[in-house]
Amino acid sequence: QALLKTRSLGREIEYVPTCASTQIIAHQLAQEGKPAGTVVLAEEQTAGRGRLARKWDSAAGKGIWMSVILRPAVVPQKAPQFTLVAAVAVVRAIEEVTGLKPEIKWPNDILIAGRKCTGILTELQSDADGIQALIIGIGLNANQDAADFPAELAGIATSLKMESGSGVSRQELVRAILYHLEVYTDLYISQGFGLLKTIWEGYSSTIGNQVRARMAKETLTGIAESITEDGVLQLRTPDGKLHSIYSADIEMAN
Ligand code: BTN
Repeated sequence: QALLKTRSLGREIEYVPTCASTQIIAHQLAQEGKPAGTVVLAEEQTAGRGRLARKWDSAAGKGIWMSVILRPAVVPQKAPQFTLVAAVAVVRAIEEVTGLKPEIKWPNDILIAGRKCTGILTELQSDADGIQALIIGIGLNANQDAADFPAELAGIATSLKMESGSGVSRQELVRAILYHLEVYTDLYISQGFGLLKTIWEGYSSTIGNQVRARMAKETLTGIAESITEDGVLQLRTPDGKLHSIYSADIEMAN
């Protein structure tokens, strides 16, 4: 903690050796009134959760399983933008600590060489007065070997160690993530989403490409043209129509 370069993020860190999910703990702490910047870090999660009610594999000591409480004074509709802001922060941290070149797959996956090394899950506590807390969950695969992943993730998931060929310091990564998360959330609050959107698009593996968007009720194939100010993906299908995609699984289609 003494080595943190942040003003508020991570000044209070709740460290737990094991838990079901750091998201659950962070929600409780936020409800109890813990300040913005409070971080929950676990060595292991027994029921780590991902987007769309999926499970997130969180082996002991192998990755960063972390939830950050933010209390931004913005309307709840802006919550998805924080996923994009957090993705930029994590990419910058990975680049800085490992020299690897990660890409962002809309909305919240960070890939290296096409395989997922990080997922981000933003959850909201809100009421009639607006956002009470945003819980940003970050799951980063740091030091797994291929054999550490369950068979169904073979070829889909990767770790920084697998990509760089050597183990990485989780402490250094946490420090870098919190530093960049603070820088980019401050930038977002003071300047809005415009500049961040440009930075995000620069790291994106989605924008400009032919993709398949699998949604609950339909699948659309087309060119991912851009994201809107609200973080909504704009997909152009071959009939020329532009579709707003709020939630989907994206695959490259070629
Ligand atoms: C996804 O890709 O679907 C998002 C995965 C988010 C995983 C992290 S690990 C820390 C935090 N606690 C959880 O239970 N989930 C998030």
